[in-house]
Order: sequence, then structure tokens, then C-alpha cells
Amino acid sequence: MDRYLNVKKQDKEIYQKIIAEKNRQEEGLELIPSENIVSQAVLEAMGSILTNKYSEGYPHARYYGGNEVIDEIEDMVRERAKKLFKVPFVNVQPYSGSPANLAVYLATCNPGDTVMGLLLTDGGHLTHGWKASATSMFYKSVQYGLKPDGYMDLKEIARLAREHKPKLIWVGATAYVREFPFKELGAIADEVGAYLAADIAHIAGLVVAGAHVSPVPYVHVVTTTTHKTLRGPRGGMIMVTTKGLAKDAELGAKVDRAIFPNLQGGPHDHTTAAIGVALKEAATPAFRTYGKQIVKNAKALAKALMDRSVNLVTNGTDNHMMLMKCGTGRGAIVEIALDAIGLTTNKNTIPNEPSSPFYPSGIRLGTPSITTRRMKEKEMKLIGNYIADAMEMVKDVDLPAEKGVRKAFLAECRKDFAKNKELAKIRKEVMALCKKFPIPTVFK
Ligand SMILES: Cc1ncc(COP(=O)(O)O)c(C=O)c1O
Repeated sequence: MDRYLNVKKQDKEIYQKIIAEKNRQEEGLELIPSENIVSQAVLEAMGSILTNKYSEGYPHARYYGGNEVIDEIEDMVRERAKKLFKVPFVNVQPYSGSPANLAVYLATCNPGDTVMGLLLTDGGHLTHGWKASATSMFYKSVQYGLKPDGYMDLKEIARLAREHKPKLIWVGATAYVREFPFKELGAIADEVGAYLAADIAHIAGLVVAGAHVSPVPYVHVVTTTTHKTLRGPRGGMIMVTTKGLAKDAELGAKVDRAIFPNLQGGPHDHTTAAIGVALKEAATPAFRTYGKQIVKNAKALAKALMDRSVNLVTNGTDNHMMLMKCGTGRGAIVEIALDAIGLTTNKNTIPNEPSSPFYPSGIRLGTPSITTRRMKEKEMKLIGNYIADAMEMVKDVDLPAEKGVRKAFLAECRKDFAKNKELAKIRKEVMALCKKFPIPTVFK
């Protein structure tokens, strides 16, 4: 049965777009490390009548009537999150990862206080104090970089923390391929009296699966998105650890106030329920196997690429992602070539980026989505070879030095690569792989 029957009857234009996107997702492979595929159960909870309700406030203390059932749902989801991540306090209302992070600033800092986070161009997130983010407009942001070898620079972080005495330090990234040294950063934060917040948006599913060390014993606050490796709906959560409550017994209450009424209005109850469904899935042995397979697949893909002489930042990975070095400013060219063979990736800066964030020199690849499609090491070898073949085919295409012509040049590349017969041959093989590994609806 057509899952979108009523959209089809009522709104043909939107229906056609949904089907076009569904086909794109089914007929290609998503290698963007922040993306995943949710179960039908998560989709159904998200698409439920819970979206009709207003519930400003928190369970048993709402500003609207009729919240008896919603209270039970939110209580249940909070308990699931506490148990899964082993934390004493959680807020499941953030609309997404960015507002969750902003709420942590509100709960721990006053406007104008000093905060520290990883540079965006070295893999940090916008909300960790990047110059274009509100977080650097309302707080004094000190940014730390990675070492030239692509690893965290603990000595430099300690030096900056001693010099600037930040109120809040962020650990976490949108593009970092090694395990985070939570313990060592916890010691630095303690020494200077700072709050340490771990943003595990990317690795939450790996932490739950035991495939990445948990930050919980070492940090005061943990934030996450729910839609990446955790495989839930688009949303966010903020957790306060026992260490956080020992530093400030009011920290949980401050986080709650920061989300509502400081930042947000009514929670998205349909999303809360879908987060609950995802957390129940994440508590199963099958999810532990899934999380571990994500990392095994990432290591296998990294090896396949390096065997073909593709350079990777830090020469490998500990988690779900890797960063390919594509030559100065060539990330966009490789992204377009990979698009042409049915592999969706994203251009990304690399540590010590020699070009710019808009024309970066790397490509970020990740395995959460293809692992959900039940692919294993054997398929990683195939995909690694497809990527290396495509890169080889476009190796002589360089980004023009003249900035004004770059946009038009990349548009031309897109047309040329779409007509390229060699790339089309690989596209067929990718299509066959997609057919062999269809998008699942139930995860066992
Ligand atoms: C580390 C990290 N934190 C926070 C976010 C923000 O999440 P959202 O896009 O849901 O606001 C992201 C998103 O990519 C992220 O990678």
C-alpha cells in the first residue's frame, strides 16, 4: 500500500516531491556521516496525532490542559534516555542539536562569559563558538585547533584554558575521526573550574553501542542530536551527569529553564514519542551489534581507500567517519563526481585547511546509513574502489584560481560528469548494490 496515499489524493505536487526524494534515497547510497535511515516505527510515531497537542512546560507542570497522556509519554522517554546513557537528568525537548547547545550556554554562563570550543574549520560545530554563530556574538569565544596530524591538541587546550579561564569548554565535533579524550579534557576543565560539555551528536549511537568511550563519567553536561548514529527523528537531548550535579545541584533545573521558557515554546510531542521509539530500539542487543558494525565498516572503507592511495586525515578512523584529502580546493569537484556515481557525500574542510570553507579540500564520508542497509566489510571494499575509481577519473580537474568563475565551473563539471561514460558504468554498479541492499523498515 502507498504510505502516502492521502498526500497523493490531496496534494499531488508535494506527493511527487516525496516520491522523488524516496527514489533518490533508495537508488543511491548516503555516505554523509550525520545522516541515517529511521525505522517505520519511528516514522509512524513522528507522523502521529501527537503533533496536534500544545504542552508548554514540563510533565505535571504544564501551561495547557489535556496533557495527561503527553506527560506519561515525556516521563517515559526521559526514563529511557536516563537508563540508556546512565545519567541522572535529561531534557528531551530541544527542537534539535543547535538549540540544545544554546541552552547549555544559558544554563552555565552569563552573556559575555568566555567559552572554548573546537574551530569549525578543524571539525568543530557552529554552535561551539564559531564567528558566524550567535554563540560567539553573545559569549567571548576562544577557539582551539587540532594538531597538524589531525588529533586533538591537549597541551594547547590546557594552555588556552589556563590563559582564558573559560566558564564552559566544549568537546565534540562534526568532523573528527578519532576517539575523543574525554578523561583528559575533564581534568583540564576541573583544573580551571570550567564546565565541560560533550556534544555527542555524531557519536551518540556508538556510545550506546559501546563502540566509543562514554563521556558521562568525565563531563558535566552531554548534548546530542537524536537523528544521526542514534537513528531517531530529528531532535535533541540535554543530559546532566552526576559530576554536573555535584558541581551545581541546580544544573538540571537550569537546563530545563534554559529550554523553556528561555529559548523555546511548546515541545514537539510527536518527536518526543519518536525519540522514545528510537531509544527503545537503541536499547536492544541488535543495536549494539549495529553500532559496532558502523565502526568496523568505517575501518574497512578507510582501508580500501588507503589501499588505493587515497589520503585520509590521521590515516584512518576510530569512529563512523573519515576525511579524504582531495587536493587544495578540490572537495567540491570530488563531491560532484561521487554524486554522478550515486554516492552522496559532502565536501568538508580538513585540519589546517589550505583553501576555504566554501571551497574546501576534503570530503567527509560516513557509514551509519549504509550499515543500516545491512552492508558489511565486503561491500565497503567495493564502495572504496568505486570512490577511488571516480577520483582517478577526475584527477586532472582543478578548481580555477579565479574566484569569480568557480560557481559556473562547478556547474559545468556537474553536466560533464553526468555525461561521462566511465562514471556512468560505476553508477550502474552502485545501483545494483542498492537493489541488493534495499532500505529496511524494521531493525532486528
Ligand atoms: C556536533 C554537532 N553538534 C550539533 C549539531 C547541530 O544539530 P542540528 O543540525 O540538529 O541543529 C550538529 C549537526 O550537524 C553536529 O554535528
